[in-house]
Amino acid sequence: MERKKLTVPDIGRMKATGERITMVTAYDWAFARLLDEAEVDVLLVGDTLGVVLQGHENTLPVTLDEMIYHTRMVARGARRALVVGDMPFGSYQLSPTQAVESAIRFVKDGGAQVVKLEGGITMVSTIEAITAIGVPVMGHVGLTPQSVHQIGGYRVQGRNRGHARGDRGRVLDDARAVEAAGAIAVVLECIPQDLAAEITAELTIPTIGIGAGVHCDGQVLVLHDLLGLSARAPKFAKAYAALADAVVDAAETYVREVKTGTFPTDAHSFHTITPVPAPPVAVRA
Ligand code: KIV
Repeated sequence: MERKKLTVPDIGRMKATGERITMVTAYDWAFARLLDEAEVDVLLVGDTLGVVLQGHENTLPVTLDEMIYHTRMVARGARRALVVGDMPFGSYQLSPTQAVESAIRFVKDGGAQVVKLEGGITMVSTIEAITAIGVPVMGHVGLTPQSVHQIGGYRVQGRNRGHARGDRGRVLDDARAVEAAGAIAVVLECIPQDLAAEITAELTIPTIGIGAGVHCDGQVLVLHDLLGLSARAPKFAKAYAALADAVVDAAETYVREVKTGTFPTDAHSFHTITPVPAPPVAVRA
């Protein structure tokens, strides 16, 4: 059955009607197809691929070319879901011009409908510049993993009153700034749920939470956390399956069957086709 592709206005309408938005990270065609089948609304090609696919300590080494490569695969698998490409570290921080060039690559080469970038007040002119060329931007405030060295670790943000970096007032101002700059939605990562509720009530754009409680307009999870494939999952993640165990069990069974000669069986094997005998040739006396 052909499905209607979700658009940016559809996501905005979901906030207005109170329908919660579901977002999951996807990194390739195979999983994008399955998540699309499950009617996940938004597929985020997250730079978390640096950690869950590439095995890096953090997201910082991920390159723009790598993100475009993965976005292209996800876009091919997403018949209904909105596809968001995550701008990697170093692809937008230099200047709004650099950010616009990167955003164009996400749309033109990757097939993304939206780009996401981290940061609030400091990213206003960047969000404005990308939006001005017709590319929708999703913001990301609270815990911004590309600033892990500045923050000093993956810590909950906005717990303390005040307006300094990481304080409650600053997270609120960041969210307001992202909306005012023209973002179409904002990810709230690792902030207290009452702060997320306040931001969600104040903003007109959807908030999508990760470690931000139930009062956001939507939720996002990293695919490997959701499927139980992550080596280390954060406290806020929920595993809806135990695929790591299933993969090890399946591979162990395969190894055992090959070693003992019980795979392949006759049913997995081919046979020579028996030649059809030629008709007898009449011999004249
Ligand atoms: O890169 C990513 O997967 C993200 C989510 C954690 C929101 O930014």
